[in-house]
Amino acid sequence: MNPITLQEIERWLKESDEKTLETLWARADEVRKATVGDEVHLRGLIEISNHCVRRCAYCGLAAGNRTIERYRMTREEIVDCALKAVRLGYGTVVMQAGEDYGIVADWLAEVIREIKRQTPLAVTLSLGERPYEELKLWKQAGADRYLLRFETSNSHLYELIHPSLPGKKSDRFEILRQLQELGYEAGSGVMIGIPGQTYATLAHDIHIFSTMDLDMIGVGPFIPSPNTPLGRGEIHFDISPAEQVPNTELMTYKAVALTRLARPDANIPSTTALATINKESGRELGLMRGANIVMPNLTPVQYREKYEIYPGKACINETAEQCNGCLRGRIASIGRTVGTGQGGRVKRSK
Ligand code: 5AD
Ligand code: FES
Repeated sequence: MNPITLQEIERWLKESDEKTLETLWARADEVRKATVGDEVHLRGLIEISNHCVRRCAYCGLAAGNRTIERYRMTREEIVDCALKAVRLGYGTVVMQAGEDYGIVADWLAEVIREIKRQTPLAVTLSLGERPYEELKLWKQAGADRYLLRFETSNSHLYELIHPSLPGKKSDRFEILRQLQELGYEAGSGVMIGIPGQTYATLAHDIHIFSTMDLDMIGVGPFIPSPNTPLGRGEIHFDISPAEQVPNTELMTYKAVALTRLARPDANIPSTTALATINKESGRELGLMRGANIVMPNLTPVQYREKYEIYPGKACINETAEQCNGCLRGRIASIGRTVGTGQGGRVKRSK
């Protein structure tokens, strides 16, 4: 099958006829089955710190938000979560945090080595825009993958919603290249329906997924967070209302399905943000429309509510065991199986 074109992606994003969309869901599901198969891989998420030096206009953890209490997990707590991941049968842990330089590079390298000594887990990091030398150190310590969403490929919009630090222009595409050069499997993605995002921009985002050699591609709906500039509607965008992509559930499914068509063999999560806007069946519908990964939360319950990137986040009060049971049940209910092992990438056939 020929790769999907930019024009086709934009046309699908604007499609609203339910019957016609059924063919998109069916195509994405078929491609998913033929490439990555029926297994759904579980990647345990450990939210190791909610400190952040950045001021992203969309994110509830941004520096300057004084309404949240900050925490940073200890080495023992993190290793305990990793051991729990093994007991629950997961192949990967994802250590995620704000861009927190209180997470000292050598300290984290030691945590990675400890997890690698004690478990067979793949270790994924999602810690923001850290310097090359630190990324290199963590790779040498045994880290396997790194997640860094580029959020939008429109550089003007990116600057507005993701201000650079003084004297250092933020370039996530460059960091993604560095990660790949260092031997990481790199993951990326975007939010669906951030203010200022046009259909043309989102179509471009999805289209360039196909040109980047990404292991994982996460797309989830933008959910306004009240204590942020975007949540308060403080930023003005120069686009007409007709051009604005809505941050809806339906638009997110379209983006998931089109991402599958753009990158047939990628690992695509059915995201927590999607589960947040449809707690009933968002996860399942994501998996049925192109996704093949879910990320059960392993963060100790006392920290979960402090990691509110956006409000109403799914799984805030559930324990790791509950999320495990919940997700396995949901996967089984749609006739899929749980993957075993690290769930690494399927090599591209090209
Ligand atoms: N709504 C949805 N997703 C968000 N993220 C950050 N803030 C929000 C929000 N308000 C996403 C970003 C980030 C990832 C960890 O969470 O894409 O990269
Ligand atoms: Fe956490 Fe369902 S995945 S409760």
